[in-house]
Order: sequence, then C-alpha cells, then structure tokens
Amino acid sequence: MAAAIKSRLAPLPARPRAAAAELPALAGADFIDLADFTPAQFTALLDWAAALRRHPKRYGRLLAGRGLAMIFEKPSLRTRVTFDVAMQTMGGYAVFLDFTDSPLGEREDIADVAHNLELWLDAIVARTFEHASICELARAARVPVINGLSDASHPCQALADFLSLRLLFPGFRAPARKSGRLKLAYVGDGNNTLHSLLEAAALTGIEMSVATPPGYEPAVAVWARAQRLAAATGARLTVGNDIAAAVRGAHAVYTDTWASMGQEAEATRRARDFAGYQITAAVMAQAAPGARFMHCLPAHRGQEVAAEVIDSPASIVYLQAENRLHAQKAVLASLLGAVPGARATAKSS
Ligand code: CP
Ligand code: NVA
Repeated sequence: MAAAIKSRLAPLPARPRAAAAELPALAGADFIDLADFTPAQFTALLDWAAALRRHPKRYGRLLAGRGLAMIFEKPSLRTRVTFDVAMQTMGGYAVFLDFTDSPLGEREDIADVAHNLELWLDAIVARTFEHASICELARAARVPVINGLSDASHPCQALADFLSLRLLFPGFRAPARKSGRLKLAYVGDGNNTLHSLLEAAALTGIEMSVATPPGYEPAVAVWARAQRLAAATGARLTVGNDIAAAVRGAHAVYTDTWASMGQEAEATRRARDFAGYQITAAVMAQAAPGARFMHCLPAHRGQEVAAEVIDSPASIVYLQAENRLHAQKAVLASLLGAVPGARATAKSS
C-alpha cells in the first residue's frame, strides 16, 4: 500500500539548493521547537531531507565518526530506530540511554548529564515527559540538543509529516483548490503532535483546521505563537470543536492517540470525552476527494481511527514513518554542520 503511494510521489530537486544558503545558520543550534526557525530555514530543511531521501548513498559519510546520545524517558519505535539508523547510514553511531526507570534529573543534575555527554558525543536527542527537561539540557550542553518528543511538542514528527505532504503536494499547492493552498485538518487531542503541526503549518503558509473535543484545545501559548508566525507567512489556522468544519475540503486528515504517553490513567475519561472524534470513512468522505489519512503512530484502531481508514489506500502512515528517517538525517547533518557547503560553528549558548 505504501509502495503504491510512493510510486505516485512527485520528484523534488535532487540538490539541496536552499540548504546551502539557509542551513549553515543551524550548525551548532538546538532543535527544540519548529517556531524557533524561520520559514526559509524550515523550507531548506525540507529540501535537504528530500535530497537525502533521493540520494542516501551520496551522503553516506556525512557524519563519519560522529556520535549521538539518545536519552529516552518513554518508549519509542520510530524515533529511536530512525535516529539510530540515520547516524549509522551517514557513517556515525548512536548510544542509547534508557531513562525509562529514572527520569532525567533524578539520578543526577541535568547539567551534569549534559557536561558528561558533551565530552564523548557530538549531539543529544532526548524524549522526556517534561518539555522543561529538554530546555534545561539544551541550555547546559555545548553540543546540539534535539527534542525527540516532550509533553509540549514533537518537531521531528512534524518535519517528517511536512516532507510527506510536500512529496504528495509539491510546493504545498493543491490543484483541486481555487486558492491553490493545501488544507490539512487535524481531529483529536490538542497535544504535542498538534502543537508542532500548527507551527509547521504556520511556517509553510498552508491552511490548517483543527477540531478537538471541548477542553482539549491546543495550549494557548502555542496557539498564539503559531498565529504570530501565520501572520507573517499568510497561513490560515483555525481551531474549534466541529469535525465537519475542520475536515471540509481538507486534502489530508490527521489524528493522534487520545491518551498520550504519561496520560494512561486518564484513558477511560478521555475515551468518553473523545467519543465522536474518531476518523471514520464517513468523516473522510467530508474531506476533499482523494484526501489522505495521516497519523504519527502508534495508532489505536477502533479509537481515534477506524481500521477501514488507516488500512485503506488513502492512508499514508507508512510514508510518514519512512520519512522520519530522512527528516532525522536532515536535522542531524544540519545541526552538526555537515551540510555540503555549510561551515560548522560552535553552539552559541
Ligand atoms: N511517532 C513516533 O514518534 O513514534 P515513536 O513513539 O514510536 O517514536
Ligand atoms: N501524542 C503521542 C505521540 C506519540 C508519538 C504521545 O505523546 O504519546
């Protein structure tokens, strides 16, 4: 199914043209939230990820001898594997640090963790419960720190998702719409994944419409930040509780789990509150003809999405998963100053 979708992908430029101009500034930076980047930098990251996707062998030694620390307080399949494979397939290596039994900062100060890891390794990716832990790690570390998902955001996921959208809708232009603008709908929890998707939508100038159950809207600060970015790019963002309004005319419909990692105790209440917010074939029928279904995974068939939707040809969930690898490569090579034509600089903080 994913292969069939992939075969219809439009080609993108093989060379990271914009990357050469925009990505040098990212050398030594952290990758915490998409709103920390300019629209041009985000577009350059997408270009660069597309080039890495198209020519993996050409860039097989970019990170030769470089090492990545991978701190995980929560389980992971996609993020862990793609960061590890990204390092290895660019000539580097990754060291997994299991923090699932003892969160960052419990055994020793976060700054001490940072000052040790920076002695041996070139970058750190961290998946934490508290967004503040990643920020503290980034403030302390002299090497780049990457947010591999926190309670507040999931920037690597949104970067990969917008790579998927760009491959399917080049330049984010959708011929079916008079405005030529891509419309992404999100139905479900106003959580970490949605926060980063809103920022990506704002950076790329697309239309994004969100429907959450009452009380589960995105965080006010994230919404305000995305709106400020949207004012600069012309993106159109709306948030409400009405599924039909959100999905009407959408070219892609996205959802995520109703109970994120760490919210397991709320699962019963959430299942009640989210009843009626499942993506069914009837919901997809209200979107644009041929609309795609998206999910960051892991998915729960029969809860946030019906099996008939996620397992249908409209679903691009495995393309999204595949693109996690190319997006991680783009982020790693950029932060480590390894983009061809980019000069490495020391982390400024
Ligand atoms: N989508 C995602 O981040 O998956 P994992 O939790 O398996 O890393
Ligand atoms: N919102 C989900 C995303 C998993 C990739 C969670 O935080 O568990």
